[in-house]
Amino acid sequence: MMKRMIAAVAGVMIATVAIGPLMSQEVRAIREAPLTQDAPAAPIPKQEAQQRFDRAYRQQPPLVPHQVDRYQIDWRVNQCLGCHDWSNAAKMQAPTLSMTHYIDRDGRQLDTVSGTRWFCNQCHVPQADTSDLVKNTFVPSSKVK
Ligand code: HEC
Ligand code: HEC
Repeated sequence: MMKRMIAAVAGVMIATVAIGPLMSQEVRAIREAPLTQDAPAAPIPKQEAQQRFDRAYRQQPPLVPHQVDRYQIDWRVNQCLGCHDWSNAAKMQAPTLSMTHYIDRDGRQLDTVSGTRWFCNQCHVPQADTSDLVKNTFVPSSKVK
């Protein structure tokens, strides 16, 4: 019993020693300023509208190759659909929404875009050639040998 108690206490001590330095590390904001200070926002990167970027991995929502700031999306209106909904795409010469966007969360096929896909810019962002917000070593699985 005593031995087990000692083991438990030692365990807690080791854990404290190991986690201590991790916890004392400062939280770093992406803008590199202390969290308690207002930092100026980075300049808005120039959007690339001349060519389409490749997807970085197969499942990536394609980046938007055109301006988006004038297209309103709120709980009633979605102006993206004026070109991209299946019912308008041909006459607007725009790519049709992926058919996955017409399936609701219960797997039912719909004729209008699913609520789960309403806020397009939650997934599709304007394309710009920028550096990584957070340094990372991401490689798509198709490139892993
Ligand atoms: C005036 C019509 C129009 C509107 C409105 C519009 N788009 Fe587009 N969109 C296009 C056209 C045309 C293309 C194809 C451009 C090309 O091939 O370079 C396109 C391309 C795209 C693509 C790339 C698709 C792919 O397969 O690479 C995405 C994503 C996209 N739009 C998202 C949006 C979003 C999100 C909105 C609303 C904020 C929106 N679009 C509003 C006409 C429109
Ligand atoms: C939850 C994330 C998400 C939302 C929200 C979303 N999309 Fe997508 N979209 C994707 C993904 C992922 C793909 C690519 C895979 C696929 O086909 O499903 C895609 C594909 C597309 C494509 C390319 C279709 C093709 O066949 O090349 C277009 C155009 C598009 N989306 C437009 C839109 C528009 C417009 C909206 C808003 C009405 C929207 N998406 C909302 C994730 C999303």
